[in-house]
Amino acid sequence: MIGKAQGPPISITGLGCHVPDRVLTNDELSTIVETSDEWIMERTGIRERRIAAPEEALTDIALPAARAALAQAGVEPRDIDLLICATVTPDMMFPTASALLADELGAPRAAAYDLLAGCTGFVYALVQAYGMIAAGLSERALVIGGDILSRILDWSDRSTLILFGDGAGAVVLEKVDHGGFLGFELGADGGGGIHLSLPGSGSRRIEDASANGYVHMNGREVFKFATRVLVSSARAVLDECGVGVEDVDVYVPHQANVRIMDHAVQKLGIPRERMVVNVDRYGNTSSGSIPLALADAAADGRLTEGKLVLMTGMGAGLTWGSALLRWTEPKAA
Ligand code: ACO
Repeated sequence: MIGKAQGPPISITGLGCHVPDRVLTNDELSTIVETSDEWIMERTGIRERRIAAPEEALTDIALPAARAALAQAGVEPRDIDLLICATVTPDMMFPTASALLADELGAPRAAAYDLLAGCTGFVYALVQAYGMIAAGLSERALVIGGDILSRILDWSDRSTLILFGDGAGAVVLEKVDHGGFLGFELGADGGGGIHLSLPGSGSRRIEDASANGYVHMNGREVFKFATRVLVSSARAVLDECGVGVEDVDVYVPHQANVRIMDHAVQKLGIPRERMVVNVDRYGNTSSGSIPLALADAAADGRLTEGKLVLMTGMGAGLTWGSALLRWTEPKAA
């Protein structure tokens, strides 16, 4: 799916994020599995990640992120009429994380549902919220992306354990006077889905019970996929919107692996200093990755009025997606 924004300007008017307190360093990981800080840094650029406390579930880390986004937008929870939570690790399959969050926030008018699109979930959810607002069905949407991937990792599998971390981010979407979203591209390839899977997590019976409930990944295949789609999806949305790559001020790729991200900036021809990188501190936080990176860019002063922001995600499904946005200063900032 690809398209240019057609209707009234719609933008992000509030942004918030939250990560668990517990920091897990590479050195500490090397006491759990056979690995080293040197290997992990060289292959992934990840130095440390956050890990949720045993009693923390997705809604516990999503709630502070959502509250921060609402506060920045100056929006009361009761004025949210759409709440989408992109995650592959809800507290449980149902009640959904979004219904729980709408209740905890105090958003009784909100349509609320979870969205499952792997690490691309946040970008998919942005597109859905944009579409609902553009169609006049929603006035104010809260889009949350977050995951506690540490719960679905095999802690004896060094090839996946080192990559992921826990975190959440949230944004408020509303109509604005100017700027906002310019266009989107979304895609999926179920044929490649087997390369990144969570067997035993649904209605498909798995005979090998030991495989149940943990992320399975063919790292090399996912690497090839990720390097390809980060570039193709970004090019597609830029072309669709008639925007040159040189006009991108802030590039926010999914924070999976610094090598994948470096490959993308080189191929796209985006100066590296325009790319937001925080994978070193958080690892791959799945649906939390792009909003956490946006929050970092905002905190270091790179996201200012009028900046052209390109976000591209990719992940399980396999899925990918890009959104192009002319940044508007959050209302209450
Ligand atoms: N520490 C030390 N050695 C390791 C580790 C580790 N943590 N993991 C694997 N190795 C070993 C392997 O066993 C292998 O040893 P061998 O040659 O003796 O067999 C060697 O290192 C090389 O293994 P590769 O898998 O070929 O290493 P590669 O360079 O491909 O790096 C990695 C592995 C980092 C997983 C890489 O493939 C990658 O980043 N893939 C993409 C993963 C990803 O981003 N997934 C999520 C994206 S989508 C989403 O976000 C959901």
